[in-house]
Amino acid sequence: MILRSANSLHSRSNKYSFKLLDNTIFLPFSILYFFFSSIFQRYHSKFKMSALAAARYGKDNVRVCKVHRDEKTGIQTVVEMTVCVLLEGDIETSYTKADNSVVVATDSIKNTIFITAKQNPVTPPELFGSILGTHFIEKYSHIHAAHVNIVTHRWVRLDIDGKPHPHSFIKPGSETRNVQVDVIEGKGIDINSSIKGLTVLKSTGSQFWGFVRDEYTTLKETWDRLLSTDVAANWQWRRFTGLADVKTHSEKFNAAWEAARAITLKTFADDNSASVQATMYKMGEQILAAVPLLDTVEYALPNIHFFEVDLSWHKGIKNTGKDAEVYAPQSNPNGLIKCTVGRAGQKAKL
Ligand SMILES: *[C@@H]1O[C@H](CO)[C@@H](O)[C@H](O)[C@H]1NC(C)=O
Repeated sequence: MILRSANSLHSRSNKYSFKLLDNTIFLPFSILYFFFSSIFQRYHSKFKMSALAAARYGKDNVRVCKVHRDEKTGIQTVVEMTVCVLLEGDIETSYTKADNSVVVATDSIKNTIFITAKQNPVTPPELFGSILGTHFIEKYSHIHAAHVNIVTHRWVRLDIDGKPHPHSFIKPGSETRNVQVDVIEGKGIDINSSIKGLTVLKSTGSQFWGFVRDEYTTLKETWDRLLSTDVAANWQWRRFTGLADVKTHSEKFNAAWEAARAITLKTFADDNSASVQATMYKMGEQILAAVPLLDTVEYALPNIHFFEVDLSWHKGIKNTGKDAEVYAPQSNPNGLIKCTVGRAGQKAKL
């Protein structure tokens, strides 16, 4: 806006100077006009100067593994996490004035993550994230918000000869348990928990028909198809007033994760799915009912297609519809279906 008005001012001054040129009396005024307009533009360009609109910084991809050893039973447990901590606060001058006195080095942030992991439980991750985030806003008076992201990798205890092994584990896939914890001074703690990369497939019990058919449609309706997806499920907790509030509810976090995972898997398996949309909504509804402390549940489900292969060209082989056995898995393009399920009475943002 400012830039535009400065330009139009300049072109106007050109126009005026042309008119005034042939009148010697007005020539000095014309020069004065040029002089002041150039000062005015410089003055304007001061206002045009950039300002820092938002800033946060910290350490990303901090990989931490903690082993818990129960001396009495000899049973050990491992937790592997990838942690990101980003800080916000009175840090503007580090960007605008090269003032490093307000900077807690990202290396110190990394050290703090290790020390906090040593001195505290790292599970549930919602609690560890809250402890870590609260540390930064309490330790540094000029830091007002800490954003902690934790990806917990899945190590499942090995069964050897039918017995759970005391200290050996297997990683069953790409599934992770994640949390995003925002600790905001004077406001409280916002937590989102999620499951990512939970890949599932069912070979029947999925339909898709009755969708819009027009001159763009080639997809056939189906009453029986393969359904596969990488589940990304996210549940948002109501705001906690602070670390004490999180601690009070700390036993609810693992229970919520177990409920969300079990509901997702059971609904995926048992629902005779009319569409990804209809099935995911049922999942969200049940999770909200199971965990009263949640505000919303959000799903993002890619529809990983498995196409039927028409082999009728080869000696009339039947491999479509009820005869389908050999499919061609597709990597892309894929459907992507998202929704957020909230409690009735809350407005949907569509
Ligand atoms: C949690 O998720 C919701 C919905 O995606 C988002 O609006 C909110 O900012 C998230 N909060 C945190 C702490 O990540």
